[in-house]
Amino acid sequence: MQEFRCTRNARYQHDCLGRDDLTARQGHYITAHSKEDAWHKMAERFPDETEAGFTVDEWEGFDVVIGEVKPGRQLESEFAKLKELAQDAEKQRTPPYPPLQVPEYREGRHGDWFLDRIDPILIRGYFTGVQPTSGNYRLFQNKTLWMSLTPRELESQSHHVLYARGHTVIMGLGMGVLLYNVIAREEVEKVTVVECDRNAVEMLYQIAEPQSWPGWEKVEIIVADAFEWQPDDPVDFLSVDIWAKLGDARLRVEGQQIQANVRAKVVALWGQEIDFIHFVGEKGYEAPPTLAQYREYIEAISIPLIESDNPDYPEYCLRAVEQVMMTQQDVGF
Ligand SMILES: C[S@@+](CC[C@H](N)C(=O)[O-])C[C@H]1O[C@@H](n2cnc3c(N)ncnc32)[C@H](O)[C@@H]1O
Repeated sequence: MQEFRCTRNARYQHDCLGRDDLTARQGHYITAHSKEDAWHKMAERFPDETEAGFTVDEWEGFDVVIGEVKPGRQLESEFAKLKELAQDAEKQRTPPYPPLQVPEYREGRHGDWFLDRIDPILIRGYFTGVQPTSGNYRLFQNKTLWMSLTPRELESQSHHVLYARGHTVIMGLGMGVLLYNVIAREEVEKVTVVECDRNAVEMLYQIAEPQSWPGWEKVEIIVADAFEWQPDDPVDFLSVDIWAKLGDARLRVEGQQIQANVRAKVVALWGQEIDFIHFVGEKGYEAPPTLAQYREYIEAISIPLIESDNPDYPEYCLRAVEQVMMTQQDVGF
């Protein structure tokens, strides 16, 4: 079988470019055994025009330079645009890191802490776009919302888990979601949790069964201020999440204060992506951010942050900032 470009010889009835000029006609692309076969297929389509007949040419695809190639090129560029949009949409849906596992929770109250369950809502992720969320709980201390199970909260810590190993320190207990994922890792031998509020620790036993979590025997919870605590043993990985809101302006300075005491080999600060993009802005660098700029940021703040070898990470940081900015627009900031 072969492809043929066929045009009608009969004069078009309507006024158009190809009415009198056969070469300006779009043509019909027909796969057939021979020229004759293609001619007959045209005849089936236009039985009233067999007398005027049809022009049949062998067709070798869109590389052949003739008048009709223009619509083809337009289609190709439209297709490329669609592909780009589809890739963007795919990015909006696909988180770059494996999702966190979530333990079972139940509503509860202890002191000024409480955990409530909320109805499904539509919400933006951290690296991903708007999505529905169900089975969501929120942890409050008075009016401060410390933690929830939204995609944004979960995605924003998902990469911390990948660096947990040896002696890992977690600053800020919250609902213990990060802890649940960290202790399950084989690479992790011991986990020290530093939490400043004793009630938060009591609360975890009210809202979950942490003793049944796989790896719980590795856990030691210390009630202390993250800014004062110092480890007895060397720390392989430190994750700090003591802030209620993403993009807290104190992240850089407070991260430095904590690391000065802990001296961890590798550190993750919750929301560091946003601070890095601030740094890029402060330096006046144009988008997109680069790995070299991220390394410069690490050097500038003197904290051995995660992802220093991941060339895709600067783009993830930009995605996080975009989602946070769009959330602010969504809620009318
Ligand atoms: C955002 S929550 C942590 C959420 C946790 N990453 C999770 O996965 O559930 C922050 C926690 O840090 C604690 N916190 C706040 N300031 C602190 C400090 N200076 N020292 C220790 N813990 C602190 C809060 O009491 C709260 O439990």
